[in-house]
Parts: sequence; structure tokens; C-alpha cells
Amino acid sequence: MPDDGRIRHPGLAAKVVPADAAAAMIRPGDTVGMSGFTGAGYPKAVPQALAARIGEANAAGTPFRINVWTGASTAPELDGALAAADGIELRLPYQSDPVSREKINAAQMEYLDVHLSHVAQLAWEGFLGPLDVALVEVSGITEDGQLVPSSSVGNNKTWLEQADRVILEVNSWQSAELDGMHDIYYGTALPPARRPIPLTHPGDRIGRPYLSCPPEKIVAVVSTDAPDRNTPFAPPDASSRRIAGHVIEFLEHEVRRGRLPRELLPLQSGVGNVANAVLAELGTAAFENLTAFTEVIQDGMLGLLRSGTLSMASATAFSLSPDAVAEFNADARTYRDRIVLRPQEISNHPELVRRLGVLAMNGLIEADIYGNVNSTHVMGSRVQNGIGGSGDFARNAYISFFLTPSTAKGGAISAIVPMVSHVDHTEHDVSVVVTEHGLADLRGLPPRRRAELIIGRCAHPDYRPLLTDYFERALAGSHGLQTPHLIGESLSWHARYLETGTMMPPG
Ligand code: COA
Repeated sequence: MPDDGRIRHPGLAAKVVPADAAAAMIRPGDTVGMSGFTGAGYPKAVPQALAARIGEANAAGTPFRINVWTGASTAPELDGALAAADGIELRLPYQSDPVSREKINAAQMEYLDVHLSHVAQLAWEGFLGPLDVALVEVSGITEDGQLVPSSSVGNNKTWLEQADRVILEVNSWQSAELDGMHDIYYGTALPPARRPIPLTHPGDRIGRPYLSCPPEKIVAVVSTDAPDRNTPFAPPDASSRRIAGHVIEFLEHEVRRGRLPRELLPLQSGVGNVANAVLAELGTAAFENLTAFTEVIQDGMLGLLRSGTLSMASATAFSLSPDAVAEFNADARTYRDRIVLRPQEISNHPELVRRLGVLAMNGLIEADIYGNVNSTHVMGSRVQNGIGGSGDFARNAYISFFLTPSTAKGGAISAIVPMVSHVDHTEHDVSVVVTEHGLADLRGLPPRRRAELIIGRCAHPDYRPLLTDYFERALAGSHGLQTPHLIGESLSWHARYLETGTMMPPG
């Protein structure tokens, strides 16, 4: 077994079994809380063994499905394998797996998309039902049975506390230097027993480095030696560099106006290539001593830590490319004191995001001319990924940025539309919209002023006349109403794309 001396508790070492033996402990209808967040720290062997077992059972006409709760997205070995075997009844929260996406949108799998900071409390409040099994990757087990967390923390604390039975995967591929990087806060409670969370700086350590679990609850331990998903990022293209340029110019302006300190405020950066590119470009600006209070540490953030632009980062997970992982693993000791990995209920906690004054930067599917944002549903109905932590940060941030290319699908779709086809973030939670064409600072502006700015600064020039025409006709028809719309026409843009493959009108 490739445990590399990682399982140092004799009682738990005696529970090491092959992955298929552990998978056999999961029963049809079970709810399983799995580790894993943005392709980091998810169990790698047992879900695949379970998927094979489920596939056989389903093929033999004995239906076998489970409910899967995670931290956030995982990988093909977990979400992909279980979805392909038709083994998932209900999945929560954020996911980005293509096979799962197809099953969800074909109504073959239920999907519950919730704010990432809400998942643990929903489980504790009892709204989600009982948790049968926790299946959690760790990077080691200490002599006294403490669990050294892996490359993500996610909801593992809650899963370990709530589950009847616990299966651990001990992954010796994970750097041994992760030991000491985590801060597991055990002070959360439900109202009315809830107390303030004692964190006033992103670098504060308010908990313990290890996860705890009574050894008698641990029914199996599986040794693995497999890498995280580690998807490569696209190199920043001209569009994302221009988006980054607008953000940096804005931040410099805010510093000059005295509205932000020179070291800015803690940064949060969402998932995807654009967010990663913005971080990379921040390293070329004249900022120093920055901090991050965010959800994931991706390549761009690691680069800022390496250069010293970022003094420290707090998150719940890594989300690195293979090259960045190799670099991190080679040099993990030097990063260790400057990275804190926390449970996602703390990394994304609204109280902390508001108190620290986080600068939140997230991606979107579409924004409307008044600043409402759709992060999740293409054409209003087809779910892409999920809201993730974007709502935790956007609503509570000091400044909430949404960053996007101005068009999608090669220009056939405008990311700026008259009315979003699905709302994740309302106009009240969106401070700044940025595309490659410019930046609209919406703070303090009433709806009609916002519309002028978003159309004028952010829309693609090909779509500006259409949006202006819509807005002017809505204004004329509204006789002074607060948020003018042509209700019948507003969503026809989406219908036009579905019918003709472009949002441009015929001719
Ligand atoms: N209409 C139709 N499709 C659109 C679209 C639009 N307005 N905008 C984007 N898309 C499609 C893209 O074409 C792409 O499709 P493909 O996979 O078939 O190529 C897909 O959506 C993803 O878009 P991409 O440009 O690759 O965006 P991204 O990687 O920057 O991700 C989100 C954008 C919105 C999907 C992503 O940011 C997300 O999941 N956000 C929600 C969660 C979140 O913000 N988490 C961070 C919080 S900490």
C-alpha cells in the first residue's frame, strides 16, 4: 500500500482495505458527503470502485443511486464516473462536470445549487436529511488519530461530524508539507448559540491544524497515490488582459482618491480563465503587500505569492494547473506560512467578507443593462455550473466586480442583454461590471444611469446600437418609471439566439 508512512495511528492502519471493499460499505440510497473543492482534495479511488459497482447493479436491473454532497466541483473520477453510471439521485452544491451537466439538464439527476457558505449550516439545520457516509481524502493521519487535511477543506469538518460512518482516503501524492497549513475552526453553532467569528485579518488562525473524528466511526481507510484534477488554465488572451487592465486602472484610481489603501483590501477571485488572468496581470502593476480572502488559490494567486506581491492568502482549496502544482509541491515549505486553508463556511463567511472589506471578482454568463447578473443558466434554463461562492462574496463585498468578455459563442451572443434570463445576483449586489471594452462603476447610480453606463462602456460595439435602441424605446414607453423595460421584448434576444443562432436581428 503506498501510504508512505502517512497512516501513523495503529488502530486506523489496521483498517486499511482496498477501494472496492470500502465502496461495498456504501449502500443504495445512502447520502454520502464527499471531500473535494474545484478539483482538489476529492477521494479518487472509492468513487470509481463505487461507480463500477453501481454500473453493474443498474445493468442487472437492481437500481443503485446515492445522494452526493461535496464542497464544490470535483473531477471525472468522482462526479463524472458516478454520473456516467447513473448513480447520482441528487447532487449538491457547485459542480462543473460535463457528464453531470448533461444528466442534470436531461432531468436524469436532481441538482441543488446553494451558496457554498450555506451548505454546512443547511446540513446542521437538518434541511438536507441525514448523512450516512463521509468519504474524505486526507493527506495523513497522526499518531493520535488526528486527520491532516488535503489540498481542500470544503465541508469535511461537517461531513466527519455528521456522518454515521466514515471512509478515509489517505493520499500520499499530496505534499507532506500541507501539514500545518490548515486552520479548522470548531466554533460555529446554530442560532441562538452563534457567536462572532474571531477573525479580523485574512491571516488569522482561529482553529486547529487538524480535522477530528472519533476512530470508532471510521469504518475503512484506503491508501491512494493519485494527483488532483489540475486543469491547465488558458494563457491570458488579449481580451482578458484588457479586462485586467481596466480593473487595475480602476483600483489605482480608487487608491488615488483615498477610497482604498495602497495595499488594497483582501482580494477574492472567482473561478475560470478571466479571473486567473486578472490575478496574473495584478503582478505587473505597482501593488505590494496585498492579501487574499478567497475561495480558491489558482495559478495567478500562486504567482503573486511567489513574487511577493501577495503577502498571504486565505482560501478553502487549491485550483492549480499541473505546472503550478509541480512548482508548489517542490517549494511547499516556502508557501506554507503564507497560505491558510479553512472550511468553506469560514472562507466564504458573509460576516467575514463584510468585516474584512473584500474586493470580490467573479465571472458571469450575462449581465443586464441595470446590473442584474446571471452566473448559472445559459438561456435561462440550462444550468452551466452553479452559483458557487459568488453570492457569498458579491453580496457582502466592499466592491463587487463582475468580469466577462462582452460576447460569447464567437460574437453570436451578447453578454450584456436587456434583461437577464435568470438572476443570481441582483442589481443591489453588483458594484462594477467589466468587459474588454471598459468598466462601468455602478456604485451610487440609479437604474437609468446604470443602463447608460453599462451599454456605453461594457457592451460590444456591434450590440451597442441594439441595446441603446431597446433602452430608448423602453424609456419612451415607461413614462418615467424607475426601471424601464419592454417586458414582451426583453427576453426575445434569447429567443432570437435559440431560433437563429445569433442575438443579432435578422438582416
Ligand atoms: N450565453 C451562452 N453561453 C455562454 C454565455 C452566454 N452569455 N457566456 C458564457 N457562455 C458559455 C461559454 O460559451 C462556455 O461554453 P462552452 O463550455 O460550451 O465553451 C461556458 O459558458 C463557460 O464560459 P467561459 O467563457 O469558459 O467562462 P468562464 O470559465 O470564465 O466561466 C462562469 C464563467 C460564469 C461559467 C463561471 O465563472 C462560473 O461558473 N461562475 C459561477 C460560480 C462562481 O462565480 N464561482 C466563484 C466564486 S468564488
